[in-house]
Formats: sequence, C-alpha cells, structure tokens
Amino acid sequence: MAVRALLHYALEVPDQTVGEKFYTSFGLVDEGRRDGAVALRPAPLKRETVLLYGGPSKRLHHLAFGAPGDDFAATKESLRRAGVSQVDPPRGAPEGGLWLRDPDGNLVNVRDEAPAPPPPDPPLRLNSPGHIGRQVDRGAPESTATATPRRLGHVLLFTPDVPRQLDFYTRVLGMKLSDRSKSIIAFLRCTTDHHNVAFLTSKGPGFHHGSFEVGSVDEIAMGAVRMQERGFQPGWGLGRHVIGSNFFYYMRDPWGSFAEYFHDLDYIPEACAWEPRDWPEADALYRWGPPVPDDFGLNREVEA
Ligand SMILES: [Fe+2]
Repeated sequence: MAVRALLHYALEVPDQTVGEKFYTSFGLVDEGRRDGAVALRPAPLKRETVLLYGGPSKRLHHLAFGAPGDDFAATKESLRRAGVSQVDPPRGAPEGGLWLRDPDGNLVNVRDEAPAPPPPDPPLRLNSPGHIGRQVDRGAPESTATATPRRLGHVLLFTPDVPRQLDFYTRVLGMKLSDRSKSIIAFLRCTTDHHNVAFLTSKGPGFHHGSFEVGSVDEIAMGAVRMQERGFQPGWGLGRHVIGSNFFYYMRDPWGSFAEYFHDLDYIPEACAWEPRDWPEADALYRWGPPVPDDFGLNREVEA
C-alpha cells in the first residue's frame, strides 16, 4: 500500500505566460497548453512535471502521485479503509487515476503509472586530494553554461497541522517519514529520495516550492546566474541543508514562492535501517549558506 512517485505538481497562477517564462528560464521545456494548462517538463523526461492553470491567485491546484499496478489497487483499498472518499477531478485535469482531498483540502491525484527515471549522467569528473577524476582538461564551466533540471524531486507545502498531514500521507498513502523537526517541518518519501513531499507549519495551506535535480553544484550556480540575467530574483542559496543534505538554491517565482535546484540529496533504499530523526530547530534549515531571507517561510497565500 503505497504511492511510489511524485509525478507532477499543478499550480493555479494569475498569469500563465509569466509562469511559463519563469519555469522555462529555470530550465524546463515548454510543452505548450493542454486543456487550458501550460505543461512543462525536465528535458530528459517525456512527462510533464509542472502544470500551470489560470486562476485568481497562486495556489496549489493538485499533486499527482504514481502507484503502478498492485500499488494502485492497494492505495484505493487503503483510502476506502480510512474512509477517504474519492472526489471528482477538477476541470481540465489530466485524465485517469483517482482523486481525493488531503486533510488540508489539497487535491491529490493517484495514478496507475510507473515513474520513468531520466537517463543517468556520466560520473562527475572532479579532482580532490588523492583522487584525480579529470586530467589535462579544464574544469570551470563555460560562460554560457546553464541548468538543465533532470527531474522533479519534491514539493514543500505549508500546512496548519504538520502532524495531521504526516499521519495522512504515511498511514493512508503509505509514504515514510524520513526526518522532522518537532511539529515545525516533516519530510516524507515514496522513492529513494530523502523526501518527495515536505510539510512546513503555517497559518494555513500553501505552496512553498518545487525542487528539481541538477547535475552538479556548478549547474546549480550557473542556473541561478542565468535566471538573474533574465530578471528573476534569487531567493536563497547557495547552501547545504542538514535534513536531506542537498546543496540548494531557491529562485523566487513570480508569486512569492520558489523553485529550487538541488544536487546530492540523501538516498534511502526501500529496505534499509534508516531511522527518522527529530532535529533541533537550529538544524531544520541549513548547515551553511547565506542568511535565511526574512520572508523565506512566509506563506503569502494566507499572510501579507
Ligand atoms: Fe526543497
């Protein structure tokens, strides 16, 4: 009984064209409009991972998870046992799968679909003490280098009740808790990634960021440089998280939330002795990096 992948996230945004420009500048490929939504995908994937619907203001439209074959049937049964009713799909949503609302009212689509992983990159060619990965070859990125996100990794959502979301996504959808910091933030996985969904405490629900894997720290930084040249503002980075361990750089999207480049996230095989830790608040955000912007945890969907 479990969902096995985060397939895509869909937002409602006041101006789809502005959103299209943000996410293509971020490095996603524009698939054009389908049933009223702008569809965007990482270049190595055939499947869209971001959908942008029109709406009065930015908010989460829905999340889609994959639960292939037996897992789909088991998830359906788990919903029935938990007394969670299926709901009608929102207008224009991708066909297929089942629809439900989580305890915060977020729409969730569970699809009988296996995730298609992007092809692996060649190993990084880095030189370090006693380990020569690159000889007679310059290592600095070209001045024109940019970021090419390989895949969607996770989303972070605001919630007024972290324990309630944690209970629902683990007990009903079969995700696993990877780490948490009290009832402030919880990180859950349904793949080998340290987290595919995280919940951050707030006055109400909201969308904080979507996060995409890139191939190196250079690629994170060059992606951020390219975005700033196109007029987008850095949010927070470059830094390294403690929970999940990834290098990060958050770019501000046009609506006061973020898109994150990540690299070197903790990997947790399905059968292993990973013990979730309850981290002190001081470790909840980062080990190093620039100071956290004052508004980084601001949920603009409910606060000014
Ligand atoms: Fe993240």
